[in-house]
Amino acid sequence: MRVARTLPELTQHCAALRAAHGRIDLVPTMGALHAGHRALVDTAVRSGAGVVVSVFVNPSQFGSTADFQGYPRDDAGDLAILEDAGCHLAWVPEVATMYPPDDATVIEVGGPALRWEGTHRPGHFRGMATVVAKLFGQVRPDLAYFGEKDWQQVQVVRRMVADLHLPPEIVAIPTVREPDGLALSSRNRLLTPEARRVAPLMHGLLREADQALAEGATASGPLAAALERLREAGFSPDYFALVDGETLEPLEGVRPGARLIAAASLGTVRLIDNIAAG
Ligand code: PAF
Repeated sequence: MRVARTLPELTQHCAALRAAHGRIDLVPTMGALHAGHRALVDTAVRSGAGVVVSVFVNPSQFGSTADFQGYPRDDAGDLAILEDAGCHLAWVPEVATMYPPDDATVIEVGGPALRWEGTHRPGHFRGMATVVAKLFGQVRPDLAYFGEKDWQQVQVVRRMVADLHLPPEIVAIPTVREPDGLALSSRNRLLTPEARRVAPLMHGLLREADQALAEGATASGPLAAALERLREAGFSPDYFALVDGETLEPLEGVRPGARLIAAASLGTVRLIDNIAAG
């Protein structure tokens, strides 16, 4: 596996990968890699493409410096996981490479970015879309993989790619879970033992709400009940909603493509999760 830390190195290694494999797949990550990331990389490697994985904790998508600084980092562990997975090229840029002093462009996505994470984390999707657009411009992938755990993020990236006529095909890979249902997330390693014990409740409540909807309930009852159960268990919920899976608009009842989405903090750790509804 090659490791590129500068743009000239990236350009050189990407050219070699394209010559050898005919195509390039990109897996954008912020590091602290876990089995969820590994599922994305494994899928890319199996496809036969030249595989580039970016590892960059993107400051512009964090609301506070404390959250950015506290985000888990494990550079040596990440490179070992990527090597083991058969990744061809790790792209590990510095902040100054991604955001040079004269940087003056941001990507502002509307539509699916406007609600939920968009309101609870102001500026988050602007920072995320901007760095993903930069990564697409730098790596020029034919295809890029994202995890379904960040369901809204996937829809925002798809909207940006469609609206800006960007080349990569976007492929979403199902969420990987712990045996007790907790969605794998780099932030899970920040949970206290007590919070880790309680955390799977979010997934349990998503499944219960789905069951109630399948039995004919309208959305408002199960959603309100789930919010109450989260509060009782010590979560500070931001939302628990039934939405259109593409536009993220709230729904009153299940229809094809509907999604149940939730976000809540447990102490200082914010968890998000989602499942298909119906
Ligand atoms: O999902 C993430 O880890 C990040 O939002 C991404 C897509 C790598 C952009 O920084």
